[in-house]
Amino acid sequence: MSDTASAPLSSDITRRRTFAIISHPDAGKTTLTERILRAGGAIQMAGNVRAKGERRRTRSDWMGIERDRGISVVSSVMTFDYGGCVFNLLDTPGHEDFSEDTYRTLTAVDSAVMVIDAAKGIEDRTRKLFEICRLRDIPIVTFINKMDREAQDPFALLDEIASSLALDTSPATWPVGRAATFVGTYDILTKKLHTTVELPEDDARLVQMREELELVKAALPEFDKESFDAGHLTPVFFGSAIKEIGVTDLLDALVAFGPPPRDQAAETRVVKATEPNMTALVFKIQANMDPNHRDRIAFARICSGKLSRGMRLKHTRTGKSFAVHTPQFFFAQDRHLAEEAFAGDVVGIPNHGTLRIGDTLTEGEDIQFTGVPHFAPEILRRVRLDDAMKAKKLKQALVQLAEEGVVQLFRPQDGAQPIVGVVGTLQLDVLQSRLKAEYGVAIGFDSTPYSLARWITGPREKIEAFAAAHRSAMADDLDDDPVFLATSAFMMRRTEEQNPDISFHDIKQIG
Ligand code: G4P
Repeated sequence: MSDTASAPLSSDITRRRTFAIISHPDAGKTTLTERILRAGGAIQMAGNVRAKGERRRTRSDWMGIERDRGISVVSSVMTFDYGGCVFNLLDTPGHEDFSEDTYRTLTAVDSAVMVIDAAKGIEDRTRKLFEICRLRDIPIVTFINKMDREAQDPFALLDEIASSLALDTSPATWPVGRAATFVGTYDILTKKLHTTVELPEDDARLVQMREELELVKAALPEFDKESFDAGHLTPVFFGSAIKEIGVTDLLDALVAFGPPPRDQAAETRVVKATEPNMTALVFKIQANMDPNHRDRIAFARICSGKLSRGMRLKHTRTGKSFAVHTPQFFFAQDRHLAEEAFAGDVVGIPNHGTLRIGDTLTEGEDIQFTGVPHFAPEILRRVRLDDAMKAKKLKQALVQLAEEGVVQLFRPQDGAQPIVGVVGTLQLDVLQSRLKAEYGVAIGFDSTPYSLARWITGPREKIEAFAAAHRSAMADDLDDDPVFLATSAFMMRRTEEQNPDISFHDIKQIG
């Protein structure tokens, strides 16, 4: 393709900013999301965000909401324009039991905003989600929220981020005033003061700020784009989502230096986002609104080029081609069906179960993207079926729901009842209720002696010998890859020591 022909495509792609917000519950993710959407003009979406707040709901409420697929499908991706860029904010489930879904969503973003409560600092879930981002070196922008309240000292917070996450911190803004007197920020990069009230030059808050900025200069690294892009340094913003302080600092920074759609590694080559040919990667599956029809929406991130309605796509895992007549483009502003989407955007593709997490779609090229992981489940349960007549139906239903990512499915090699693996117990409730509602199969769960699952790789004959020696602790996953089930961490370590030719993995890359 000539330069002139590819230039408009390239500018459409480089102005995409696809990101997610990671945080510990209560740090202010929902509030910040609302304020961001408001700044981006997508105000009507803000109501939906607030209405969601799964965290505040009881279990049964949540299940009702989840069954009403319309809400979760639409609100999974929020798109808005700001500062000449097209932003895609990918929502992640608030409930920690759905962290698997969150992990996979993080594989579809180009950057993450890490929200930290200024009083509490780094909390558990922030750390966990950060580690997932680090696996892929996703650039992280930090937003220290709730500066309008009693907070830790900014230097102490920067220190804590640096030491507990092993991440360099470079303040991008500095707070003006603290707690009740917090009125704005000074943008260190653009040297601009943003305050909600006009302050005289000799205001104590400005005097304090100038003194602290001297210290910042002397003690902390300057912002370094290369280091940020590599995921080694985070620019830090101070603010108050609720008071709308610091929110546009954050968005302006994402416009100025937020990463555009990245290149995506496939098994055989690396695909550049600005390549003209469309490629896409399925990172999430969601069952459709109507449980009577096995329709599903596959969420695909466009990795390169442009997708247009009606385009014929090749599904590289099966080699089959199909036309996407009804892709759903997620544009929150008006929800009009768009005709095209570019690299960095996320589209929903309705299908009847052919598309799976980790699948690649192209205009014809035979490639398979890598990088969508499965995480070893933390809870393992054996499925108990009360009505033996339904065994076949259960088998089919479990495969479908596992393909959708509701649970992970392990089929014991000794032929025993299937085992399901989840990260949080709420996933088990969802499985049970969906099996009943959508497939008419009633199940229960029995405990298993196992507490850990590990994918195993190694020379074929070694794997076979290992499997034969550990028959009752071996299972196959959905892709027929072998999995070893251990009763304890101690047992796991011993097995590893005794089998040096075999590698045990707690993460499996799909594809
Ligand atoms: P989450 O999605 O991360 O769980 O947090 P969410 O935005 O729901 O915020 C959690 C609580 O913190 C909410 O209070 C919210 O109003 C408050 N909050 C968020 N940002 C700020 C901020 O910048 N400053 C202050 N002072 N508070 C903030 P809540 O009482 O739990 O709920 P609500 O009754 O206010 O809705």
